[in-house]
Amino acid sequence: MMLVRRVVTTTSLAKFFPCFSSSLSKSGRFAYHASSPAPSLNPISDDSCGSENEEAEIDWDELGFGLVPTDYMYVMKGTQDGEFINGELNHFGDIKLSPSSGVLNYGQGLFEGLKAYRRKGMGGGIMLFRPEENALRMGMGAQRMCMPSPSVDQFLHAVKLTVLANKRWVPPQGKGSLYVRPLLIGSGPVLGLAPAPEYMFLVYASPVGNYFKEGVAPINLLLADKIHRAIPGGTGGIKAISNYAPVLKAQMHAKSKGFTDVLYLDSVNKKYLEEASSCNIFIVKGNVISTPATNGTILPGITRRSIIELANDLGYQVEERLVSVDELFDADEVFCTGTAVVVAPVGCISYCDQRYTFKTGVETAAQRLYNTLTAIQMGHVQDTKGWTHEIQ
Ligand code: COI
Repeated sequence: MMLVRRVVTTTSLAKFFPCFSSSLSKSGRFAYHASSPAPSLNPISDDSCGSENEEAEIDWDELGFGLVPTDYMYVMKGTQDGEFINGELNHFGDIKLSPSSGVLNYGQGLFEGLKAYRRKGMGGGIMLFRPEENALRMGMGAQRMCMPSPSVDQFLHAVKLTVLANKRWVPPQGKGSLYVRPLLIGSGPVLGLAPAPEYMFLVYASPVGNYFKEGVAPINLLLADKIHRAIPGGTGGIKAISNYAPVLKAQMHAKSKGFTDVLYLDSVNKKYLEEASSCNIFIVKGNVISTPATNGTILPGITRRSIIELANDLGYQVEERLVSVDELFDADEVFCTGTAVVVAPVGCISYCDQRYTFKTGVETAAQRLYNTLTAIQMGHVQDTKGWTHEIQ
């Protein structure tokens, strides 16, 4: 396959958007109007944020998965008929919303998540992993939620600007990543149930370490028998903000019993695996790796899809299909995948007071796949798939 590496620099962005480099080179901080016909320069002049080249003053060894406020966020307004204009970088901070906004009243919102890794040293390029997939998934989710969405180009542009503007917050190699969180919300006021009349697309970022408190050690899951994450015909297959609060109760219960997270079953037969609260699930039996097919109730994870491709490349037989609890209990290995989670080995799963344990450690499929994926994401090996975007 042809090697495709897209390198975006502040200089190449400036070719298309002159204000980008001029404001950057003068002050190290800037605002950029992405999609207005004549981009307007709106320098952010206060000195509260460091230059994008200096390293943020935080203890990189202490990073978990919690919000560390960074310098800038990207904000763009959209109309109901799909025109997104006047995107710009603002200082990271609170946003103003009508109490009657669609997102606050009726949950009309979507989010995405992707990570930026530093390639080598503090002066090196920054790697983004398959950001166009996030853009496309947001577009699909928007259709389901009766929202307009930014174009793929607008999405990519916003993500890249946000990452570059917050460059000093991208952790040194091996210390974590900059987690980028695009949001699309119904910001305009509604009272009767209807799509909001206005929309807001935001991108903010936070440096993060491991998602689970276990770090890269195996996690233990509680298989939920009463709470379900999604229903056929519902929104389980998109990244609706409203998919996540309903699992908090199950998650809190599991955590109070010492479990890392919850694994959900389908809501109809109550015997097929769906996903965990924040990630997809895979089981391994011999040379066969199986994962629940994405049929509308399961999030089509970008890490999930990447792992399927990499597992095929490594010679595993990969099956996307219904996976029953009985197969789960009989598996050699179980692992979870997600942007935040990456590839997390599952050490044990509890269900109806029974505990099932699985193989973990260096000789596992999960470990091979983790190594293969992260080597591409961090730029340790050549990306022969054209999955990464390098920006600097
Ligand atoms: C991600 O993995 O990026 C997610 O969106 C999951 C979220 C619950 C942290």
